[in-house]
Amino acid sequence: MTTSTDRRMRRRRLLKLSLAGAGIAAAGGAGFGTYLFTSATVDTVGAVDFTNPLRIPEVETGQVDGTGTRIFDLHMAPGESRIKSGSSTRTWGFNGDHLGPTLRARRGETVRVNVRNSLPETSSVHWHGMHLPAVMDGGPHQSVDPIDTWTPEWTIDQPAATLWYHPHPHGATARHVYRGLSGLFILDDDEGDNLDLPGEYGVDDIPLIVQDRRFDGDNQLDEDPGMLSSVGVLGDEVLVNGTHGPYLDVTTGRVRLRLLNGSGARVFNFGFADDRPFVVIGSDGGLLPEPHSLRRMQLSPGERVELLVDFIPGEKVVLRSYPPNLHTDFFESRSHGGDDSFDILEFRAADTLTEVAPIPDELIPVPAIDVESAVTTRQFQMAGFSLNRQTMDMNRIDFGVRKDTVEIWEIENQDASVHNFHVHDVQFQVLSIGDRPPPPHEAGWKDTVQVHHGSPVRIALQFKDFTDPNMPYMCHCHILYHEDQGLMAQFVVLDEGEDIGSVPDGHDGH
Ligand code: C2O
Ligand code: CU
Repeated sequence: MTTSTDRRMRRRRLLKLSLAGAGIAAAGGAGFGTYLFTSATVDTVGAVDFTNPLRIPEVETGQVDGTGTRIFDLHMAPGESRIKSGSSTRTWGFNGDHLGPTLRARRGETVRVNVRNSLPETSSVHWHGMHLPAVMDGGPHQSVDPIDTWTPEWTIDQPAATLWYHPHPHGATARHVYRGLSGLFILDDDEGDNLDLPGEYGVDDIPLIVQDRRFDGDNQLDEDPGMLSSVGVLGDEVLVNGTHGPYLDVTTGRVRLRLLNGSGARVFNFGFADDRPFVVIGSDGGLLPEPHSLRRMQLSPGERVELLVDFIPGEKVVLRSYPPNLHTDFFESRSHGGDDSFDILEFRAADTLTEVAPIPDELIPVPAIDVESAVTTRQFQMAGFSLNRQTMDMNRIDFGVRKDTVEIWEIENQDASVHNFHVHDVQFQVLSIGDRPPPPHEAGWKDTVQVHHGSPVRIALQFKDFTDPNMPYMCHCHILYHEDQGLMAQFVVLDEGEDIGSVPDGHDGH
């Protein structure tokens, strides 16, 4: 079955290649053969055999010690996974061969994680979306050498949300994530529990880590971005929770999906094959004030969304990625996957489905950050691999923000390439995209936002705690190749009267 899929996909690709070739040959231009080879459109619609049950990462709630601290163990190590038929694939994982468990904790709890590194190289583990002290953040300064264990501890103090964790070693993040190091970190709270939303993990509350990958002829992960790539590896196949060609048996009339775009560079534009609507209930940092019905949801690397989708008994429907709108020109769009389509996951509804409660009209209030009180407006210009004309320097703290202040950041994509912007420490609110307010489903808590050429994004951020003049948080493009190349800056949160310090020795990531 895999061979016939492969053959069909190859044929499709060849077909696209020759069609595009005709167009570009007509337009002229040297070296277009090479160009075409590295940038042919990928389209797997109708060509995926959904033969593998979707793997659901196991939930890890850790152990609670005598003081009430919830303790998790995460062990990073190389492994081997049966992903496609034929040879198994060399992968990296947390507590297993590939990806990691879904960690789960509640607001108010103190958590500790024993992060043990059995990889052949230095890595780190960052809690993407988590509000916590910079020394616990797991960025490039909290590197964990082989054989070492790093033990961050913090108190969960933010709303229920779908966060995730992944390595963040400077210059190697893309490769470590691509090899399989990613997992979800679900936070719960009373407000979220009190809503009548699907919440039975793996039954009607389904985690979906969606990642593009490219395999070589021996089923090994192809890590070569290709000569002309400016975004790193773009895969031509999609895995969900590490499963190739996945299907999910549905037993309830409504299912909640916790979607993460865990790709290094690919932007997905999710929708269903029959164009059915779905209801968005949450963004990166928590639930929205109200549900919003949509038919498409574009997610860039690092972004999450929670949505509800309804099924009728006995049906099958495919979750798809339609060509994303990258707001860029023909060539850039093509080479960043702007023309690509994927069949991602098939839902198979049982002949009888459990009845569901109506979707609440109101979810969780998102109090607006008081923009009037903003003390500073900062500009961030992304161009190529640089942020404000500089690339990341581990020993340079780029700026300091003050505790107990609100800031407005204006982020601009100055080139035709695809960028997004992720901020550590806080969840922010999007004030405007271009000259328009954000659509309601992007007006909740966010930690990663798409920034398209010609549409500067303004965000509001509120800094309340965790001052440390010497240990910075990161802000960066979450196209992992761009981040590795240096599209990243470091900032510290300062107490009143405090000045920017310097990163202590031994924390320079080496
Ligand atoms: Cu998801 Cu700084 O990273
Ligand atoms: Cu970028």
